[in-house]
Amino acid sequence: MLKAREPGSVAEFNLNGAPVRVADGHPHLLAALREELGVLSAKDGCSPSGQCGCCTVLVDGKAVVSCNLTLGRVEGCEITTLEGIDAGQRDRMAAAFASTGALQCGFCTPGILVRTASLLEKKGAGLDRGTAARHLGAHLCRCTGYVKILDAVELLAKGESPEPVALGGIGTSGTRYQGLELAVGEKHYVDDLRVDGMLHGALHLAAHARADIEGIDTAAAAAIPGVVGVFTAADVPGELRVGLIHKDWPVFIPAGGRTSYLGDVLAIVVAETREIARHAATLVDVQYSPLRPITDPAAAVATDDDAVWGLDGNVLSRSVYARGDIDAAFAASAHVVHDVFQTQRIEHAFLEPESTLAVPHTDGRLHVYSGGQGVWDDRDQIASVLAVDRQAITVELVSNGGAFGGKEDMCNQAQTALAAWLLGRPVKCTVSREESLLIHPKRHPVRIDLEVGCDADGRLTALRARMLGDSGPYASVGMKVLERAAGHASGPYRVPAIDVEAIAARTNNSVCGAFRGFGANQAQFAMEGALDRLAEAVGISGWEIRSRNVIAPGDVWGPGQVMDDGCLGARRCLDAVRPAYDAARAEGRACGVGLGLKNSGLGNGFLEIVPAVVRFEADGTVEVRHCWTEMGQGVHTVAAQVAIEELGVDPGRIRVVVDTTRELGAGQTTGSRGTLMGAGAVADACRVARADGCRVGVDYRGEYRVDWTSSIESGVEQPVIHSAFGYASQLVVIDRDTGAIERVLAAHDVGRAVNPLLCINQIEGAVHMGLGYALTEDFPCDAEGRPLITTLRGLGILRAKDVPPIDVILVEEPQPRAPYGIKGVGEIGLVPTAGAVAAALHDLDGGWRTALPMRREPTVAEPADA
Ligand code: FES
Ligand code: FES
Repeated sequence: MLKAREPGSVAEFNLNGAPVRVADGHPHLLAALREELGVLSAKDGCSPSGQCGCCTVLVDGKAVVSCNLTLGRVEGCEITTLEGIDAGQRDRMAAAFASTGALQCGFCTPGILVRTASLLEKKGAGLDRGTAARHLGAHLCRCTGYVKILDAVELLAKGESPEPVALGGIGTSGTRYQGLELAVGEKHYVDDLRVDGMLHGALHLAAHARADIEGIDTAAAAAIPGVVGVFTAADVPGELRVGLIHKDWPVFIPAGGRTSYLGDVLAIVVAETREIARHAATLVDVQYSPLRPITDPAAAVATDDDAVWGLDGNVLSRSVYARGDIDAAFAASAHVVHDVFQTQRIEHAFLEPESTLAVPHTDGRLHVYSGGQGVWDDRDQIASVLAVDRQAITVELVSNGGAFGGKEDMCNQAQTALAAWLLGRPVKCTVSREESLLIHPKRHPVRIDLEVGCDADGRLTALRARMLGDSGPYASVGMKVLERAAGHASGPYRVPAIDVEAIAARTNNSVCGAFRGFGANQAQFAMEGALDRLAEAVGISGWEIRSRNVIAPGDVWGPGQVMDDGCLGARRCLDAVRPAYDAARAEGRACGVGLGLKNSGLGNGFLEIVPAVVRFEADGTVEVRHCWTEMGQGVHTVAAQVAIEELGVDPGRIRVVVDTTRELGAGQTTGSRGTLMGAGAVADACRVARADGCRVGVDYRGEYRVDWTSSIESGVEQPVIHSAFGYASQLVVIDRDTGAIERVLAAHDVGRAVNPLLCINQIEGAVHMGLGYALTEDFPCDAEGRPLITTLRGLGILRAKDVPPIDVILVEEPQPRAPYGIKGVGEIGLVPTAGAVAAALHDLDGGWRTALPMRREPTVAEPADA
C-alpha cells in the first residue's frame, strides 16, 4: 500500500528485492531510479505528468507509473522494475514482443512489459484481448497501433512462447535487429547514456511568441549552488542561425533580438544535476517588450509587418503549376464540386523527448550523441555554431524513441554542444515533454480551396486548388511540405487540366515542418472528399469513381509526370479492398474507401547520392555503415537483411553503425528514403566487397544515386518529379448503431517488402496515427501563438481500447529502377485514412466533412499545472 511520508528525510524502500536508500531532492520515484540507482529500463516520456506509461514499475505488486510518485509515497514499499521481474518471465515476454513485431522504436516497451507481467500474474489464461486493451489505457505507443502488442499479450496469456526468428535475406520476416535489447530496455537512448563528470543542461524558453528582448540577466541562475555555467547568444562564437534549407532559425535569441515563437531558446543553464539545472533555468531573467503575434496565416501573407525577427516578408514559399485549359475544362464538366477544407496542426508525440549528450575529448574534438534524423546535418550545423571545422565534430546516432519527421531539425544539439565545448566537460540536456511540445516542428495546418470537375461518367476533367499552410516562424522544411502538398493535389488520379498554388506562410505559431506524409495527407484529404462528392453527383460508388480515374502507366499525373509501371500498384491496392468494400455495402454497413499516393525520396530535381560502407573486421564481424536514422521504422534491419542477401553471412556477425566518422551524409532520414536508398547503397557496397574478395579491414563503399528527377517548376516537359511512389487504399467500416469504427482494411503497395512483418507493423502504426488525425488529434494555438495543449493526454491520441481491428494486405508491384523494386512504406502510411473515414461518416449520417479532426470536442486550454 502507498504511504504518506514526512518530507525532508532520506527514502528507504526495497528495489527488486534488496533494500535501498536514496537521497532527498528527487522530484519523483522515476528520477531516483534513473538518476541515483541506475535503473534505466523505466523510461521518461512525460514526467511528472504520468500520461505515457513508459516509467511503469510495480509498487507492492501493483503496476503504476513512477514519474508522479513522490519518494514519500513509496517509503518502505517493494519496488519492482523490469530488471527485477523473474528472468524467465521477462525473457519470455521480450521474445514474444520482439518476434511478433510488438515493438518498433521500443521506448514504450519496458513499461508495457511490466504492465503485462502484472496482468499475467493476476489474470493468467483469463487475460483476453479486450481486457488487455483496457488495462493498456495507461500506456501510449505511437509506433505500433497496439495491434501486435495485443497479439503478443494474447499469446503469452495462452501460455505460448513465440521465439525470435533470425534475420534472413530480402523478403523474409526475421525479428527486428536488436529487438530483444529494445524490449528489455537495454538498448540505450541518449538520456540513458552516462559518462564520467557529466553535467546537465536545461533550456530557458521564451515567455512571449513575439517580443523584443530588452535584456537577459543570468546572475540569479548562475548564483544557484551547483550551477556551472549559463550560456546565451553572447557566447556563440560562430553562426547564430541554423536550418536545414534556410539558415533562419536562431539557436538563441540575443538581447536586442526578438522572439518569434514560444519554442525560442534564450539560454542554457548547466549544473551538477538535472534538477538544479532546471530550477536555475527558471531564474534566468528576461526583460521583454511584447508585440502582437501574427498568428493567422491569411493575415500574415497580407501584411507588411514581418512576423519573424530578421526576415523580410511572411511568404516562405509559393509553389505553382498548371496544365491544360482549366477554364474550358470546367466549362465542359458535367459536375463540379467546390469546397474549402481545413486540416489541423498535429504533434508527432514520439515518446522519447529530445536529448543530446556532448563529450569533449582531450584532442580538442567534440563527440555528440544525437537521436536526430540527420547526423551529418547535425554535425555541420553544430560546427557552424562553434565556428570550428566540421572534422572537429563527430556526431553518433543513438537510435531514437520515435521521430516521424519531428527530429529533422535540431532541438537542443547546438546549445548542448556549445556548453560542453565552452566548459570542456560532458553535458547532457534532455528536454521535458512540455519543452519538446513547444520546440519541435508540427504537421502543417493547411486551408485548401478545392474545385474539381468530372464528366457525366465520373471521369475527372479539371482541378483547381489554392492552399495556404501555416508554417510557423522558421523555414525548417515547410516550403518542401507545401510543395509536396501542391504536387500531390490530384491524388493518384488522371486529371487533364490542373491549376495549383500552395503558399507556406510565416507566423508566430509553432514551427511546422516534416511529419509522415509531408503535405500529401492534407492535400489528399481534400481530394478524396471532392471525389466522393462527385461520385454522389454522378450516382456511382466511391470505389467506382476511383476505379474510373486511377492512374495507369503512361498517364500524365499531377504536375506532368508520365507514370511508369510502378503505378500499377494503385490499381492493385484499390482492387485488393474491393471484395470487402462490396461485402460491407451489401450488408448495409457504413463504409468509405480512400486511395492515396506518396512519393519516396526527395525528387523535385534534387540530386540524391546515397553512400554506404561494408567492412569485414578481424573478429569476424561485418560492419554495415549507412547514413540513416533508426527511429523504429527498421532501417537497421533493412541494412542487415540486404547484407545477408548479398553476402550470405550469418546475421549474428552483422553490426550496423551510423556515425559521422566516414563521409556518408545524404541528408535527412525522411520521405521513405532510408529503406529505398539505403538498400540500394548497402547492396552496392556488398557487391564491391564481393568483387574484391571481402578483405578484412577495408572500407568497401557503394552508393545509390537518383539523378533523373526535375522540379515541378523546371519547365521541363513531362518532368519526372519523383523516382518512386508508394500507393495505398484503405477501407473504413463503421457500425451504424454505435457509430464506432469497426474495421480498417489497409492495402499497401510497397514495391518489395524487405521484411513483410516490419512492413505490416509500419502500416498498422500508420493507420492508428491516421485514425487519430482523422478523428481526435489536434494541437491548436491561441491568438497569442500559445499552444493550448501542454501534455500528451490533451493531444487526442487513440489508446489501445479505441483502435479497431486493422487488417493489412501487402501488395508488391515492383518499382522500375529501384533496388529490389522497393518503394518504401513509412510515408504513404496514413495518406488515405482521413479521406476514407470522412467517406464512411458521410455514409453513416449524410454529412460532408471539411475539417479535421472530425470527432473532437472543442479544445480548451489545459491548466498550467495539468
Ligand atoms: S514518464 Fe511516467 S507516465 Fe510518462
Ligand atoms: S514502439 Fe511504442 S512508442 Fe515506439
